Amino acid sequence: MASTPIIEIRQLTKRYHQSDEPAVKKLDLKIGKGEIFGLLGPNGAGKTTTISILCSQINADEGDIFVDGKNLAADSVQIKKIIGVVPQEIALYQKLTAYENLRFFGNMYGLKGEDLKERIMSRAAAFGLEQKLHRKVNTFSGGMKRRVNLVAGILHRPRILILDEPTVGIDVQSKNVIIDYLKQLNEKEETTIVYTSHLMEEAERFCTHIAILDMGKIVTEGKPEELISGYPSCNNLEDIFLLLTGRSLRD
Ligand SMILES: Nc1ncnc2c1ncn2[C@@H]1O[C@H](COP(=O)(O)OP(=O)(O)OP(=O)(O)O)[C@@H](O)[C@H]1O
Ligand SMILES: [Mg+2]
Repeated sequence: MASTPIIEIRQLTKRYHQSDEPAVKKLDLKIGKGEIFGLLGPNGAGKTTTISILCSQINADEGDIFVDGKNLAADSVQIKKIIGVVPQEIALYQKLTAYENLRFFGNMYGLKGEDLKERIMSRAAAFGLEQKLHRKVNTFSGGMKRRVNLVAGILHRPRILILDEPTVGIDVQSKNVIIDYLKQLNEKEETTIVYTSHLMEEAERFCTHIAILDMGKIVTEGKPEELISGYPSCNNLEDIFLLLTGRSLRD
């Protein structure tokens, strides 16, 4: 990698209390500025654990993380300001309207007044939500909730956007809107994107770089096209995924 990584993970280890095996084992990872980085892996591979540590939602047992040259353990308050998070589980208040939810998340990042209103309106329009902003979230479809969840993570224009399976359980239309918007964000605002998924076809089209994680360890990483040409028996990322992670159930 030519440039200094915007995220560097060194020897990260996390063991949950109830578990015999660590969920993440001595994981090393570098993510370059401006990349769309796919952290891929089967159920239980350690994707959510890794990004929850990266977002300071849970603590690691061992290892270091550097974001934009700063140590996460020492500078988490500053680092949180440049990160946007879109969690795997929908994190919205069901009884509030979409607008009230977005205002709440905007306020958490210190946004208010006309500026916040404009940001909500423009992002909502990009996701086809402008007519529905004043409806309660518990009346929304799964796809609409996912889109609101995503808007909540990008109102403060984060330099790094971390998304945990943002396209799971939604239709092709919603998926395309989300992926196209993320591509634009990456191109126009130079947002570095870290995305987890087990949808190999989507990752192959969307990501500039990927790492495949299995049982808490990286099993391969690189640019999708380089990885595919490096495994002569594989035609696509899914073939590589199955070759490296096997066919048995994980959880
Ligand atoms: N709070 C927890 N307590 C105990 N074990 C946990 C906890 N959260 C996750 N684990 C375990 O840690 C391992 C990694 O889980 P994690 O959620 O990071 O995987 P994942 O790759 O995100 O999976 P998925 O694709 O299903 O979302 C799994 O074995 C899981 O059962
Ligand atoms: Mg997960």
